[in-house]
Amino acid sequence: MSIQLSPLNDQQLNALASLAGGLNREQLLWINGYFQGLLAATATSQPAIVAAAPKSTKQLKILYGTHTGRSKTLAGKLASTLAGKGIEVATIALDEYKTRQLNAETNLVFIVSTHGEGEPPAMAEDFHSFITGKRAPQLSNLNYSVVALGDKSYKLFCKTGIDIDQSLARLGAKSILPILTLDVDFDEEADRWINEFTNVFADQPSVSSSAGIVQNTISVSSVYTRKNPFKATVIDKVRITGRTSDKEVYHVELSLEGSGITYEPGDSVGILANNPPQLVDAIIAHAGFDRTELVTIKEGTFQLKEALSEHLEITVLNREVIQKYQEKSGNEKLREIVANDQELDKYLYGHDVLDLIEDFSASLSAQDLADVLRGFPARLYSISSSQDAVGEEVHITVATVRYSNKGRNRGGACSTYLADRIEVDSQVSVFIEKNPAFKLPENEETPVILIGAGTGVAPFRSFLQHREANNQKGKTWLFFGERRFNSDFLYQLEWQKLLKDGYLEKIDVAFSRDQEEKIYVQNRLIERQKEVFEWLDNGANIYLCGDMKQMARDVQESLLRIFENQGGMTPEKALEYLKTLKKEKRFQLDVY
Ligand SMILES: Cc1cc2nc3c(=O)[nH]c(=O)nc-3n(C[C@H](O)[C@H](O)[C@H](O)COP(=O)(O)OP(=O)(O)OC[C@H]3O[C@@H](n4cnc5c(N)ncnc54)[C@H](O)[C@@H]3O)c2cc1C
Ligand SMILES: Cc1cc2nc3c(=O)[nH]c(=O)nc-3n(C[C@H](O)[C@H](O)[C@H](O)COP(=O)(O)O)c2cc1C
Repeated sequence: MSIQLSPLNDQQLNALASLAGGLNREQLLWINGYFQGLLAATATSQPAIVAAAPKSTKQLKILYGTHTGRSKTLAGKLASTLAGKGIEVATIALDEYKTRQLNAETNLVFIVSTHGEGEPPAMAEDFHSFITGKRAPQLSNLNYSVVALGDKSYKLFCKTGIDIDQSLARLGAKSILPILTLDVDFDEEADRWINEFTNVFADQPSVSSSAGIVQNTISVSSVYTRKNPFKATVIDKVRITGRTSDKEVYHVELSLEGSGITYEPGDSVGILANNPPQLVDAIIAHAGFDRTELVTIKEGTFQLKEALSEHLEITVLNREVIQKYQEKSGNEKLREIVANDQELDKYLYGHDVLDLIEDFSASLSAQDLADVLRGFPARLYSISSSQDAVGEEVHITVATVRYSNKGRNRGGACSTYLADRIEVDSQVSVFIEKNPAFKLPENEETPVILIGAGTGVAPFRSFLQHREANNQKGKTWLFFGERRFNSDFLYQLEWQKLLKDGYLEKIDVAFSRDQEEKIYVQNRLIERQKEVFEWLDNGANIYLCGDMKQMARDVQESLLRIFENQGGMTPEKALEYLKTLKKEKRFQLDVY
């Protein structure tokens, strides 16, 4: 029997012993501080010191604004690296940062994402409006850098970070490095930037901040990430819309057995899919390429067919792809579209890479095409299970994207992968995307109003499973909307059981196409406005999940009407109340 005295393996122990052997007292102290910093950066409890290296002469604060947690994780990574250089560093959420401290700051890094349609994440709203507004002070003593997280498929790519960067420059602050804008698949680029920034910052003459270092929390990162996903086995896949439905929604159960992956209600699963094979073949055939030709992309060198199937995005176009294609092809018709914002927007929706090469012919090589295309980003799905109920499983609820344009049937990459190309026992590459901004209240007695249309109901299945598994009987009220009662009532039997067992107090449903006039969840909210307001008055939290463009806006409009009618508020006060609810995290949204 062997007794393990140290969690390190022999190789690590030898490396440590040989390093420690030659160190003097001062060096040992420095290393002690370095490890303290690293340890704090992986702590889960609040508050935790991010980094405090001994003999530090430099200080820097990292202010982050996040919705789904990626900016926060990146802030933690930057903090650990800077700590390793003996820099005293703190990370602070933008909603906890006092803007009056700004003119006393000397070194700041902003890491901030963009959400909605070019909007700041809720936690960065106040800072964003302050820094872009008239009250922002001159900041000529400030050195700063901005890292902007975004997604190139959105029109206003990285807008929040860009706004902050431009405002700081206008206020006289000096940038340490130019703004870094990051598309969704950013790990390598971010790592390179962190190293560059750390070296540049460490080499700068030292200036210390008079505003004091505030300490904060950084979350632990899982071993399984976008870059290193877990291969989850499909346990079950069931279509949960009826045969007569014009929607095709699947409930998919995946096994996380042996992964050690944990998640919470409100988090999402990221799925790395492959592209529809018919589309891959049609692109190769139309362009007259050889499918075995080698192309080199970020991930390495692959045969064209594999690159198009696994690594490049072909079902969706974005501005950058069209611009690059136009530049490579020199196509004049496309130049006109690129120059006209409205025309470009119109073309982007409902067209894919096959359309692009069919509509705007060009003599490109396979490598040229690969250079134009974007890497294939993971798609996210709200988790519809609770680990307290299902253990080492994760469930999702997926609406298949199918449509027809110009006489050709098309499908979304990931949703058709899940619908058509996987079956029970297949393996799917997954990772968890934490969503700290969509969480059940800590107090299990807090009433919750859950508003979900279509697959927007997925996280509420997770919320209610969680309350049931933990016998939490805080009041819950679900508003669910879809097209038709007979074919589209997702998880109907489960809601009925939850009602019977007392974990769901009320359910209101809106089936838009079961009667002449369209009825949606926002109409049901208005019908129940007196009670909705009473629940809110009694401290209820509201959660909204589903379609960002239409439903989220209409539901918020209904809530404003309810505050006016039931709370006697003016339109301005109602808007303020809605903002306060968001700020206090009593109104949380997960819209897409
Ligand atoms: C946080 C988050 C949570 C999410 N949760 C869920 C969830 O629980 N369930 C769920 O189903 N989805 C969810 N989604 C959406 C999901 O991530 C994918 O965007 C969705 O499945 C489509 O991906 P896809 O790869 O199948 O389609 P893509 O390959 O991305 O194709 C989409 C494109 O197809 C085109 N298109 C689609 N429909 C039409 C049409 N009718 N007419 C013309 N063109 C069209 C458009 O150009 C569109 O951009 C979530 C998204 C986020 C960000
Ligand atoms: C519903 C939704 C809307 C988004 N809108 C935008 C946008 O308008 N512009 C943009 O550049 N990125 C947009 N994004 C992409 C996010 O900024 C990107 O996923 C980022 O990595 C998230 O970082 P976070 O986890 O720190 O919030 C959007 C993402 C979602 C889910």
